[in-house]
Amino acid sequence: MENKEKKYNAVITGLGMFKPEKILDNHQLEQMVDTNDEWIVSRTGIKERRIYDQGPTSEMAIKAAEDLIATTNLDPKEIDLIIVPTVTPDMLFPSTAAIVQEAIGAVNAWGFDLNAACSSFLFALQTARSMIEVGQYKKIVIIGADKMSSITDYTDRNTCILFGDLAAAVLLEPTTDKSLGIQDSLLHIDGSGKDSLYMLGGGSLNPPTHETVDKKMHYIYQDGKTVFKFAVKGMADISVEIMEKNGLKSEDIAYLVPHQANKRIMDATAQRMKLEPEKVMLNIHKYGNTTSATIPSCLTEYYRAGKVKKGDKLILSAFGAGFTWGAIYLTWGMD
Ligand code: UT7
Repeated sequence: MENKEKKYNAVITGLGMFKPEKILDNHQLEQMVDTNDEWIVSRTGIKERRIYDQGPTSEMAIKAAEDLIATTNLDPKEIDLIIVPTVTPDMLFPSTAAIVQEAIGAVNAWGFDLNAACSSFLFALQTARSMIEVGQYKKIVIIGADKMSSITDYTDRNTCILFGDLAAAVLLEPTTDKSLGIQDSLLHIDGSGKDSLYMLGGGSLNPPTHETVDKKMHYIYQDGKTVFKFAVKGMADISVEIMEKNGLKSEDIAYLVPHQANKRIMDATAQRMKLEPEKVMLNIHKYGNTTSATIPSCLTEYYRAGKVKKGDKLILSAFGAGFTWGAIYLTWGMD
């Protein structure tokens, strides 16, 4: 439900990104499992992905936050809140946000990690937005960071071709200009999808033992066909719903910014929204599915390439394990 009494709109005022140097391309994967470049590109749109083999997720998150700080001249002491959407935290606790907070000197911030699988970034954006709109906080940093290689089984061709490592950050601030920033959101969770995409081991259900390791329970499992079916419908329906709710026609929209899980899912969503392919932000070919980093990395790359301008209307849209899914409609506020 929209709050008509809100004081401010929440607007993205800064961006940051870190991409690991090491590339794992489809031809290298051909040497590791029974697959081929043609299959991967035609079924997913992925050509290569990045692998961070230097350290944990927090290191990538810190580097993305440092990029944001450097490019916005943000004083870390002014940060009120750090949210790290991630499914690959360094540890179950302390949170990755705590490690980032210390490293960047955000001495006045509080923070937490947020896990809604591939919808984590959208859920974090909505959470931060609600705190900004009521005037509670002025500077919230959200860093979508995932080291998917740490939970990927590189002998399983069903999953190892899909995922990669990446981190990207946004700064969210209040504005009194209600024509800018986040305008609306629609988010959902439905646990009936829990058996289609999961990692069984490591939590309280299956604490780590030799057996959980032997049974490969610390890796992602995905019933790709089922998830694909629900993702196509879920992402397209929610994206069209938020357009209709806000009286938006396809010509009003500058970009769809979809979670990058599969190009075919993104194409189907764009088709339902009647958007031309140029209006779909895309970086899956370079990075694969990087879970929490897909949407903020698209925003960072397209903005830095001069392709997004102030006033542009964007629909951010995602679908992930849980199931979780949703869409956020915003008007771009950076010059
Ligand atoms: O981000 C969170 C949400 N996740 C998603 O949205 C992912 C949704 N699912 C997908 O993107 C797709 O289902 C996949 C890309 C994972 C798989 O594509 P698909 O078109 O659904 O393929 P499939 O699983 O139906 O497999 C088709 C065939 C099978 O062979 P048979 O049974 O037809 O003989 C697979 O064994 O392709 C085979 N196959 C492969 N072949 C070459 C599966 N993986 C591979 C591979 N290389 N890597």
